[in-house]
Amino acid sequence: MKLWDSRFKKKLDKEVEKFTFSLSVDKQLARYDISGSIAHIKMLAKTKIIKEKEAGRIIKNLEEIKEEIGEEKFIFKNDEDIHTAIERSLTERIGTLAEKLHTGRSRNDQIALDERLYTKEKIKEVVSQITEFQKVILALAKRHQKVIMPGYTHLQHSQPVLFAHHLLAYLEMLERDKNRLKDSYARVNVSPLGAGAGVGTSLPIDRKFTAKILGFEKIAENSIDAVGDRDFLLEVGSAGSILMMHLSRLSEEIILWATEEFGFLEIDDSFATGSSLMPNKKNPDVPELIRGKTARIYGELFGLFSLMKNLPLSYNRDMQEDKKGFFEIMEIVGSALAIYTKFLPKVSLNQERMKEMAERGGTTATDLVEYLVEKDIPFREAHRIVGKIIRDLKDSKRILKNLTLTELKKFSDEFKKDALERVKAESSVKNKTSFGGTSPKQVNQRIKNWEKRLK
Ligand code: ARG
Repeated sequence: MKLWDSRFKKKLDKEVEKFTFSLSVDKQLARYDISGSIAHIKMLAKTKIIKEKEAGRIIKNLEEIKEEIGEEKFIFKNDEDIHTAIERSLTERIGTLAEKLHTGRSRNDQIALDERLYTKEKIKEVVSQITEFQKVILALAKRHQKVIMPGYTHLQHSQPVLFAHHLLAYLEMLERDKNRLKDSYARVNVSPLGAGAGVGTSLPIDRKFTAKILGFEKIAENSIDAVGDRDFLLEVGSAGSILMMHLSRLSEEIILWATEEFGFLEIDDSFATGSSLMPNKKNPDVPELIRGKTARIYGELFGLFSLMKNLPLSYNRDMQEDKKGFFEIMEIVGSALAIYTKFLPKVSLNQERMKEMAERGGTTATDLVEYLVEKDIPFREAHRIVGKIIRDLKDSKRILKNLTLTELKKFSDEFKKDALERVKAESSVKNKTSFGGTSPKQVNQRIKNWEKRLK
């Protein structure tokens, strides 16, 4: 059955049929499609466009179809798309009455509606997944509040930081990711139903009524826009892609930290794989795949942008191609968050190694500079003095922590005994008391704030 074939003299070419059908992809929208149809039928009855009794019968059968789909008992046939599949099945059940279902509606507003309902649900799911993941990160930070590691810029040692502080940076990023999704929700939460094919209808429909049943905050104010844009997919897809960028950076760090060279952490056996050839291997496949899937997400997002950029208003069949990529984006985001929420609590840290590395490479040089600044030496001069100390140290392959006071005094008379304290990693972090800095006090305060926020 085609919803449109009376206008044609010939049957659709089999190959064209295969080429244009979208059921295999838009099947995923079945639930939303039926909810949309039920709301639509209720409205048709309320506005007396169809009879109450007719509506009751259609709704009852749509509910049955919904149940069958939920239980995977529904039989799909050679249907063009999900809308056709459901209408076909409804016709098999109630005959010609089913033909009233599509009154005052087009597949153009129908598909836009389905996609918005799907997107709304996905946003909610991902938002709560982000919160769960944030809780896991927070717990890890709380458990390891004393662990010190080297801070990095340019992937070179900068200054010692608390591992917890490093983790809390990810909490901030994830919070912004969450807010981006929440913000976009308002723009997704607009009902296109009733826009028809793109210009509205002459039937006395009530768009506010359907929007309310379906939980939409607003109704689209322009029928062309309602069926003709997919910017909401781009917006949510972009937010998802930014989120994946963050997860991918975390992955990169975990992959590095798990190497022999870094040796900061070990991945739990249940989350790593071995090599079929080398018995010694333990591979960080989970973070690697998250990094890899991030590339795919960007591909899909770029595909969506390219899809839309040349389309004249309003609906074009090209837009059928939006679903596969967008579903893929949401699927990747969901699975990456789910796996990391299980993965992260299980990593074990090599705290001694982290601490040892935190004191290598002159990481507390800046602390000495600040020490001299406190003695009223101008910053630039202090910087030059400590620069010379570092140059000497590098030549003799030693680290700042092992310098003696006599050695320090060769560079400046202002160095006193307490300077030796300042070059230790613990005091270095302890002294970073500026707001947002890495001092244990600051970090502990942040942890407490996050605990309240994520409750
Ligand atoms: N499968 C179509 C899509 O995903 C549904 C809308 C079809 N509309 C049409 N006028 N052919 O976009």
